[in-house]
Amino acid sequence: MSIALIILAAGKGTRMKSDLPKVLHEIGGAPMLVHAMAAGRTLDPDHTVIVAGHEADAVAKAARAHDETVRIVLQEEQMGTAHAVAKARSELAGYDGDALVLYGDTPFIRPETLERMAEARRAHDVVVLGFEAADPGRYGRLVVADGALERIVEFKDATPHEAAINLCNSGVVMAPAPRLFDLIEQVGNDNAAGEYYLTDIVGLAREQGLSATAVTCDESETMGINSRTELSVAEAAFQARRRAEATENGVTLVAPDTVHFAHDTYLGRDCLIEQNVIFGPGVTIETGARIRAFSHLEGCHVARGAVVGPYARLRPGTELAEDTRIGNFVEVKQAQIGEGTKINHLSYVGDAEIGRDSNIGAGTITCNYDGVMKHETRIGDRVFIGSDTMLVAPVSVGDDAMTGSGSVITRDVAPGALAVGRARQVEKPGFARKLLDLLRARKAQRDKERG
Ligand code: UD1
Ligand code: CA
Repeated sequence: MSIALIILAAGKGTRMKSDLPKVLHEIGGAPMLVHAMAAGRTLDPDHTVIVAGHEADAVAKAARAHDETVRIVLQEEQMGTAHAVAKARSELAGYDGDALVLYGDTPFIRPETLERMAEARRAHDVVVLGFEAADPGRYGRLVVADGALERIVEFKDATPHEAAINLCNSGVVMAPAPRLFDLIEQVGNDNAAGEYYLTDIVGLAREQGLSATAVTCDESETMGINSRTELSVAEAAFQARRRAEATENGVTLVAPDTVHFAHDTYLGRDCLIEQNVIFGPGVTIETGARIRAFSHLEGCHVARGAVVGPYARLRPGTELAEDTRIGNFVEVKQAQIGEGTKINHLSYVGDAEIGRDSNIGAGTITCNYDGVMKHETRIGDRVFIGSDTMLVAPVSVGDDAMTGSGSVITRDVAPGALAVGRARQVEKPGFARKLLDLLRARKAQRDKERG
């Protein structure tokens, strides 16, 4: 079965009260539009057309960042969901497979549900995704008679009898593309909103002797997001789902409610995640790694057996090899850390490459920024960097080398060498005692003068 996705994303989302178009508001660190795209992608579509309108450039950019093959069509004036779908027609000229309409503001449809719709399409011309709503509110209502879907009535146009129906419209529709566009052409705007409703295609299809059916799914999947309150509910639902998935896949979450996931967080089996860990986008944690409490990770890869935190921060471009240790108050950015290497306390390591089995002492800093440009630090294998070393990049430290504590390293260190770059210690015998006696005498004199 060949599928074309049409994703509606032109609306402003007035109720969000935002300058950002609604579909770019994020859930799990990704725009809700990207969630809808990802759901549709599991059907392996031949075409994906996104209907953009409000802030179309920003919407197009976000969509392309996720999938560069998408095509964007413009719906300058938002005259309703049918009008929006009609805009995709030119992009799908000559295409005679199925069209699946998804909404950019409905991010949680599960792949299994879309597969069930595709299955139902074998027996019916039009398939609508519905759900039993706990509170039907402003959703469109599905009017079913004798097991067949008769029509959809929008809340604004519903009679009290129809408004009492709990079976609601998710907005997701599947039909053969040419048929869908033909039906849409017949949709009028004589309704309470004065809009061209996509939902009208069901009644039209039935009048023309075509069959229509509703596939139902859980309400949590079809949640449409129209306000910030709904966005926060959606985020909570997303987090709950990801936590459950992680634990089911063999990850230990010590306090699940305190761990925050991004849309693409990958945790291998037997990972252990302690309390209050936050995953930003782009994190992969391999089997058996441990992320300790209060750590913040984004755009990084943590290999098997590594231990990170507590209180560690891994920023984009961090690659931790197997059995590395990143301890408390350590920040790592754009850096490869070799197998078995330890950076255990109070350090900043950025734009760096460190070999294996090296030890980076407490308080070490790679001074990567000269105020204008960023520079690299290279550290070899089995290196011992003394505590409080400032590595002024660009600089390299060879294999088996050492730096003395408190050194400011501005020149490359040869393999096996010890580099010390700090003021030499001087010692003045008895001087401390003399100095203290002098100071105490001064204080006594002053106290006497003040009475
Ligand atoms: C729509 C459905 C309703 C369903 C609900 C589910 C219609 C007429 N109604 O109502 O039955 O219960 O979704 O959430 O379809 N959009 C455009 N261009 C337009 C209008 C809308 O791109 O001209 C986009 C919006 O950006 C949004 C989506 O389509 O992503 C849905 O539009 P919205 O106005 O939120 O529809 P609802 O009133 O929620
Ligand atoms: Ca909506």
